[in-house]
Amino acid sequence: MSQYGKITCTGSYLPAKQVTNDELSKFMDTSDEWIRSRTGIQSRHVVTDENTSDLCTKAAQNILKKSGYTGDSLDFIIVATITPDYQMPSVACQVQAGIKADNAFAFDISAACSGFVYGLSLGEKMIRSGYKRGIVLGGETLSKVLDWKDRSSAVLFGDGAGGVLLEADESPHFLAEKLQSDGTRGGSLTSGFRENKSPFYDESTEETAWLKMNGRAIFDFTMSDVAKNIRQVLDENSVQADYFLLHQANVRIIDKLARKLKIPREKFLTNMDKYGNTSGASIPILLDEAVTNGTLKLDSTQNVVLTGFGGGLTWGTLLLTL
Ligand code: COA
Repeated sequence: MSQYGKITCTGSYLPAKQVTNDELSKFMDTSDEWIRSRTGIQSRHVVTDENTSDLCTKAAQNILKKSGYTGDSLDFIIVATITPDYQMPSVACQVQAGIKADNAFAFDISAACSGFVYGLSLGEKMIRSGYKRGIVLGGETLSKVLDWKDRSSAVLFGDGAGGVLLEADESPHFLAEKLQSDGTRGGSLTSGFRENKSPFYDESTEETAWLKMNGRAIFDFTMSDVAKNIRQVLDENSVQADYFLLHQANVRIIDKLARKLKIPREKFLTNMDKYGNTSGASIPILLDEAVTNGTLKLDSTQNVVLTGFGGGLTWGTLLLTL
């Protein structure tokens, strides 16, 4: 008999320390007014002694606690992150150790702010192929890759983790998807460059490990490619979406996309005012918040659109029944 993936539980974890715009303006030439009016962000959470694996492990523990499962019942763990503790072991393997998921295989995926959407798509295909239960997480400590002297990027981002439990179900819940990438435009959002210090390596470089962004180019990309992507998924499927959960980069992007797509703004959930842009973690944190406050129910009655977009460039939309 065929089986399909269903989201049966959500969870998240935010580090305790919150930093307001006013606090940033104490050591950076910026202001609450500028940040709030350009981005909708009022504060963000940042780590003081934790790394991405800690945040993801706590989000996974939150999911297990709510769902009543133990780690050993999981078949797989997928973590979307661009800020892993190490290149190896993966954050997913660190989470596996932390929650004692002895029977799971675990790996990270790198698709920046689309990472959770890509990971969820992949996780659902794992379930279709026969696995029974897995966790898909998005987690980031972007504070460690930000150039805190660059006001044009440092004010935008935050740290956090969120995720979902995916389980086998007899009816399909993932109705449609369209995932896209364009590596030719990758230079407009970069971070984590690693200089080759080998004695055999001869090239010098201007590249840096700090996050660098061409904000205007990214804004334009969302208005063209991301808008088209969402429109295509909606037009090719006759399903009405109840809610839209987009990557939480900037409230102006969401306001403008809603207008462009001619979809009522109140269908777009937002929480970047509290968390800033948490890259791969933003959609699962928003999803968990909406499930926790009762806006979203995991009872197969609501259709939602999840859309990620960001570095790579990568972007993609999933249409699913929760
Ligand atoms: N505080 C105060 N002033 C700032 C500032 C800050 N934190 N950051 C930039 N500025 C200044 C600039 O230096 C510039 O000054 P100038 O005109 O004297 O040169 C001015 O504000 C306007 O900068 P500009 O880049 O034109 O602003 P903008 O209206 O395009 O807004 C972004 C900038 C980054 C908010 C906007 O481009 C954006 O949202 N882009 C998408 C970014 C994003 O979401 N990326 C992640 C996607 S995954």
